[in-house]
Amino acid sequence: MPYDFDKPVNRRDTHSMKWDVKEHELPMWVADMDFQTAPEIRAAIQERAAHGVFGYSVVPEEWYQAYMGWWERRYGFSMEKEWLVFCTGVVPAISSMVRKLATVGENVLVQTPVYNIFFNSIVNNGRNIVENPLQYDGNGYQMDLEDLERKLSNPQTTLMILCNPHNPVGRIWSRWVSCAGNIM
Ligand SMILES: Cc1ncc(COP(=O)(O)O)c(C=O)c1O
Repeated sequence: MPYDFDKPVNRRDTHSMKWDVKEHELPMWVADMDFQTAPEIRAAIQERAAHGVFGYSVVPEEWYQAYMGWWERRYGFSMEKEWLVFCTGVVPAISSMVRKLATVGENVLVQTPVYNIFFNSIVNNGRNIVENPLQYDGNGYQMDLEDLERKLSNPQTTLMILCNPHNPVGRIWSRWVSCAGNIM
């Protein structure tokens, strides 16, 4: 199945947060894709919509198999079905994890600059933010591992949210994560 990532689609007047803006405004601040969703996905949504009844749903077995199979095929990583919890988005998942894994008043570490909603999911749940600033060395951003170790050694810092790929620095962290002045 060929996928077309170049076909321009007019998104104005579709209640698009990105494109329902003034005529010459270029809304590049939001990571919202402008190509159409894959034809297989659109066909599946159309088929479901054609059924016409939208009651309460269960998470089907196919969802688990699709998810586990994707990780197995791409990364050779097998996971147990019991590890998976269905969630409607990354942000609700992060908020739930902050509530589950850190207690009110504890610290959650993030590597800044980072996607702004990480801050909301920590502060709105009554946890504190601890920043481990990334270091720019003229070529790209590196982790400051000494600062990270020091901050994580605080027993009040019980959770770290790793952003990978990192938004906004545009890095995919490798296993051999590089620290400032030590590019690998
Ligand atoms: C790092 C990061 N996490 C999560 C999201 C949002 O994910 P979702 O829309 O699935 O909640 C974004 C969106 O730009 C992001 O940059």
